[in-house]
Amino acid sequence: MPSILEADLLADRFKRIQREVDAAFDASLEVPSDARSRLVEAMRYAAIGGGKRVRPLLVVATTELLGVNRESALRVGCAIEAIHVYSLIHDDLPCMDDDDLRHGKPTLHRAFDEATAVLAGDALHGLAFEILADPETSNDPFTRAELVATLAQASGMNGMAGGQMMDMAADGEEFDLHTITRLQQLKTGALLAASVEMGAILGHIPPEGRSHLRAYARDIGLAFQIADDLLDHEGDAAKAGKAVRKDADSGKATFVSLMGAEKAREQANVLVDQAIGHLTSYGKDAQLLCALARFIVERDR
Ligand code: IPE
Ligand code: IPE
Ligand code: MG
Ligand code: MG
Ligand code: MG
Repeated sequence: MPSILEADLLADRFKRIQREVDAAFDASLEVPSDARSRLVEAMRYAAIGGGKRVRPLLVVATTELLGVNRESALRVGCAIEAIHVYSLIHDDLPCMDDDDLRHGKPTLHRAFDEATAVLAGDALHGLAFEILADPETSNDPFTRAELVATLAQASGMNGMAGGQMMDMAADGEEFDLHTITRLQQLKTGALLAASVEMGAILGHIPPEGRSHLRAYARDIGLAFQIADDLLDHEGDAAKAGKAVRKDADSGKATFVSLMGAEKAREQANVLVDQAIGHLTSYGKDAQLLCALARFIVERDR
């Protein structure tokens, strides 16, 4: 259980990052006065407000360990969040999960239309890389190139999109634990791991110095999707702001369907303890990353 101090610290940190990410999207999504206005209104509808902003907070928490300025961390956090928001817009489309509710309001294709939702996702994907390629994110071109490459890999066929393809195939399938683990690592773990990795890149930590952080990120990535599947299984739609009991209805293979809710929760807790264990060498400086790991399995939304 987290201490009261830890819970307070985390609540404050979430509030602050939510405010900052909203303000950054507000500033970069100015509505043009031509026929694109509908597209940008749609991007604003999906990107501003609602999300927990776990990924930006992970970037900030990692860079705090490494003494990186907050402005750069925030820009990187927004780039990853732009990819995340796009992935949710497309995930909710009728051709994928066909959902009507996201963040407690109608999904984008419901509030606008399907074509606009597809394009808003596309444009958020572009925005992510525009943010990373801007010298304001880092004045070092090598750092910018590494950030771009890392996010590209985490979003594409070897990351989120690849995982989403496997997820589509998981409907009505008898996937084994190994395959489900791979699916979850790609569809959800990749972007969470990229959040920590890109924090380390901003901190100029060479790849060989990232092993503890990478091990932490891998464990929380998997725990995060198990928690999401548990929310779907036993959560409250009003709190989650999205429909629940969808996975069982579609016969989707998940950790919960494979091992039952109790074992899945146990597994998520083991992963979180393991994740925290990887950070011992950072001592108290890693307090926020540890608190985030616990939040990931204890959350109700
Ligand atoms: C939900 O992610 C989709 C998954 C990848 C499991 P989040 O739970 O981070 O979504 P928001 O942005 O906070 O709503
Ligand atoms: C979505 O997973 C993951 C991505 C968008 C990459 P889910 O389909 O389980 O997410 P929710 O439950 O709709 O948020
Ligand atoms: Mg889905
Ligand atoms: Mg979904
Ligand atoms: Mg889900």
